[in-house]
Amino acid sequence: MRRVLVVNGPNLDLLGTRRPDVYGLVTLADLERLVREWGTELGLDVETFQSNHEGELVERVHAAREGADAIVVNPGALTHYSRSLADAIEAVEIPTVEVHISNVAEREPWRRHSVISPLCLATIFGRGVDGYRWALRRLASEGVATSRLVGYGPLTAHRADLRVGSEGAPLAIFVPGGFWRIQWDRDTIDPIAADLARRGFTTLTVSYRRVGSGGEWPGALHDVCYALDWARSRFGADPRRVVVVGHSVGAQLALLASRRAARSGAPPSLVVSLAGVTDLVAAAADGLGDGAVTAFLAGADPALASPAHLLPVAAPLLVAWSADDDVVPASFSARFAEHAEAAGDRVETLSVEGDHFTLLDPRRRAWRAVAEAIDRYL
Ligand code: DQA
Repeated sequence: MRRVLVVNGPNLDLLGTRRPDVYGLVTLADLERLVREWGTELGLDVETFQSNHEGELVERVHAAREGADAIVVNPGALTHYSRSLADAIEAVEIPTVEVHISNVAEREPWRRHSVISPLCLATIFGRGVDGYRWALRRLASEGVATSRLVGYGPLTAHRADLRVGSEGAPLAIFVPGGFWRIQWDRDTIDPIAADLARRGFTTLTVSYRRVGSGGEWPGALHDVCYALDWARSRFGADPRRVVVVGHSVGAQLALLASRRAARSGAPPSLVVSLAGVTDLVAAAADGLGDGAVTAFLAGADPALASPAHLLPVAAPLLVAWSADDDVVPASFSARFAEHAEAAGDRVETLSVEGDHFTLLDPRRRAWRAVAEAIDRYL
């Protein structure tokens, strides 16, 4: 995976002047420069293309068969109805990630439907132009280890990216964060899943319901519990060698799902909290995530959803954090590790330099230290 084509559809040439309240102030020229820079950081050669014409977009996608290993596409309004663009993406069989700058899930109802997304590895929306950077990261992780989309339950949110290791391989379940909000999804944690897959694990990167779509407490937790139970008995993985890895609020869900598994007699071999939101009482009081906790709890008692108030987990814990995290302060992790140990859990800690996302970057030493610790436990 080296050459990536970034395609922008109708009206995206107006970026910077079109509805800046929705799409921001970055122009198309700025965006195209940024995506090339982000590509270089990831070892990817990025080529860009924009057109207002459906046929030209279809033909550019066809031509990608000769010169691209992956595609990032923001089809603009064609997203919602262009079967010909969808067919083109399907026909060329090139790994594709769909991007929308705006939060299409929370605008007019007709923007919620995409004819393109069933053909894509991931659909990223509502993260501004940074969404293109996340898209490139997701494609880079696909280059490390190819994934397969699976459904682990009956709902559309019950999706996961699976990478199957050899018979008897250890199993790693990855739970993404994003303050339970709809615009954050499993692509964020996938790069470290791909890295563990490369190291011989069977990996599952899970989505779960988000706030506004049934993910309010306890919906999101039910989904993660379901995914964990579902994965343990499949893919020839060794059910006694299981690690559950959560980032940010994904760590809250990973810890609570592991606690439940432990109480039913099947604790994971290790639970890894990366920059975890481990204390919902403090998170609510501190207004973490700009009011996200209140929206997630929807009136429920924060202590009932708070790993720090439900100790011990009764499974070995690796609690890792970045010293300069300004999204989830390091004190959340350090305090949690102390309390868990006092409650009888076996706890290892790891403090690294960096920000909220440093531990999700497989090229950094921080993640390598986590991966080596996981190897020791499994
Ligand atoms: C868009 C969202 C589409 O609904 C809209 O028609 C666009 C841009 C986005 O980037 O948010 O043109 O794809």
